[in-house]
Amino acid sequence: MAFPFTFAPMKKWMWTGGLLLLLACSEQPAKPVETKKEIAGAKTANDSGKQLFFNRCASCHMVNNDLTGPALKGVESRWPDQQKLYGFIRNSDSVIQRDAYARQLWLDYNQTAMLPHPDLTDEQIRSILDYIQSVSE
Ligand code: HEC
Repeated sequence: MAFPFTFAPMKKWMWTGGLLLLLACSEQPAKPVETKKEIAGAKTANDSGKQLFFNRCASCHMVNNDLTGPALKGVESRWPDQQKLYGFIRNSDSVIQRDAYARQLWLDYNQTAMLPHPDLTDEQIRSILDYIQSVSE
């Protein structure tokens, strides 16, 4: 009679171990939607820039990875003319028509046009770009 009692606790431990192993194996790796730095930055960065980015840009852009639009990391170094960059963000069509780089980008991205944001002030665009810089890797 002593036999099953001696082994009962051990069985219990094996069960727990087995369950833990199952749980560990079924856990999916997180999708690379946002990197750690982007998530951390989103908590600390300039609030209005961050909010504007999430309300108006994040549906098509990530900072460190391509989405519908290109990754915006380092974007200011790709646009030596700052006014042109601001103009593009307000109304990309008008810049695509007169700038070879913008036109090529538009062709590279399947001629998907960016929605115009004509109401954004220089300060608001600056705060979006500051937010982008703060979470760039
Ligand atoms: C509807 C999708 C969409 C939204 C929303 C959008 N973009 Fe874009 N963006 C694009 C696409 C697509 C491109 C590539 C160029 C093109 O197709 O015109 C682009 C290109 C850019 C570029 C040039 C990138 C480079 O590498 O030179 C900048 C800067 C930019 N977007 C900033 C913004 C900002 C800032 C916002 C928010 C205010 C925004 N975009 C919102 C789709 C979008």
